[in-house]
Order: sequence, then C-alpha cells, then structure tokens
Amino acid sequence: MSGTILCRADEIAEGQARGFLVGEGIARRDVVLVRRDGALRAYVNSCPHQGTPLETFPDKFLNEDGSLLVCSTHGARFRVEDGVCVSGPCVGKALTRIACDVRDGVVVLMS
Ligand code: FES
Repeated sequence: MSGTILCRADEIAEGQARGFLVGEGIARRDVVLVRRDGALRAYVNSCPHQGTPLETFPDKFLNEDGSLLVCSTHGARFRVEDGVCVSGPCVGKALTRIACDVRDGVVVLMS
C-alpha cells in the first residue's frame, strides 16, 4: 500500500480531530485529521499566520460544535471543510490540505 497510514478510520468520531507526527527527519510532518459530516480531512498542522501548531493541548483542535479548527496562539478559526480562515489575524488564508483516503478501514495520507 502506498501512502502513509495514520489510524483506523473509526478512531476519529464525528466532530473529533486528532494530531499525528508522521515521517522522520526532514520528512517529518505534523498533521491534523478531522471528521465533519462524515468526511475525513487532513491538514498540515501549521497556522498560516505564524506557522505554529494549532493546538496547545493534545488533540484540542476544534471549537465547541466541531465546525472550526482553532489556532490556540492568536485565535484564528478555520473551516473544517476547506481549511480557510474565517476569523482572526489571517482571514482568507488557509491551512494546507493533504489528500487522504480510507482503504480497508484505514486512513492513508496520499502525499
Ligand atoms: S499563529 Fe495562529 S493565529 Fe497567530
């Protein structure tokens, strides 16, 4: 199987998100995987404002209703659906999406 395996798809419940560190050395990536309306999406866990990881506490990425990813550094909020910032210091910029797929119940990063 090509790609990078993250976890079983059923480990990420509706309205939940989880962080992953994948790869080694300079290929190491910080990734957030989030589920909304049944769909799983993966983003590079790096805020487009100043490049910090979004979360302060492990796996605490989302606002209360699970509709927005929140950067804990200065409060930018990003739509789960497309990663676009809708509030905060980087409105209009977006998280970097990473293609992912579910194969045999396992989430795989495609790039
Ligand atoms: S670094 Fe994310 S809002 Fe400033």
